[in-house]
Amino acid sequence: MATVLENVRAFFAPHTFTIDAETPSDVVARENLLDRAMGPDRKKKSSEKIRRGRLPAEGLALVARDTKGHLVGTVRLWNVEAGVTADGEPVSALLLGPLAVDPALEGKGVGSALMRAAITEAKKRGHGAVLLVGDAAYYERFGFFADKARHLVMPGPFARERFLGLELSAGHLDGAVGVIVPTGRKLSRPGVIHRARRAA
Ligand SMILES: CC(C)(COP(=O)(O)OP(=O)(O)OC[C@H]1O[C@@H](n2cnc3c(N)ncnc32)[C@H](O)[C@@H]1OP(=O)(O)O)[C@@H](O)C(=O)NCCC(=O)NCCS
Repeated sequence: MATVLENVRAFFAPHTFTIDAETPSDVVARENLLDRAMGPDRKKKSSEKIRRGRLPAEGLALVARDTKGHLVGTVRLWNVEAGVTADGEPVSALLLGPLAVDPALEGKGVGSALMRAAITEAKKRGHGAVLLVGDAAYYERFGFFADKARHLVMPGPFARERFLGLELSAGHLDGAVGVIVPTGRKLSRPGVIHRARRAA
């Protein structure tokens, strides 16, 4: 009976969390969470080609922490060139991903809070648009739609209906045509994450 009551209490207990900037000490917890939430094939995605060997956009790597400070969610955004305009001018944008939440906390609003915080911060920092590859049924609630990315392509296989865009500045993606290319700061020591995980 006591166990049943404990389970009922746990079910109705408020799941509080905070959104914070990611720090270097979050690396191992973040990678472990991504493995749990997204599975071993996560590094085969076309988005990974854009992220590999790069640092996230300045101020745009966020985490969610539970009341004990444990990492329960992550989102990162990356500087990219989103094709060119009709005049041949490069279009700068952000690529969002991965977004992941600890499976034990799914459906408690952690993902939405990370998305809203990331979009607000990206806008505050003057970015014009965010692109991502993901389920439209989830991301449309934040304003992402496939028509914003219809003339853009990922550098590898991707599902057109899952390639979505959000303009933070009206018309930013108008006429943008071409392949997404990474433009972010390069990691000076790309092996550092693997070494940190092996040491943990
Ligand atoms: C997708 C994910 C980030 C959502 O995070 P979350 O904290 O569970 O989401 P929230 O609590 O903010 O939102 C829950 C709502 O989103 C909906 N939702 C979650 N995943 C969805 C999906 N793939 N498609 C459509 N709706 C989805 C839920 O049904 C729920 O709907 P409701 O509000 O109408 O009840 C999380 O489930 C996750 O980490 N999944 C594994 C990794 C992944 O697929 N990442 C996204 C690809 S980059």
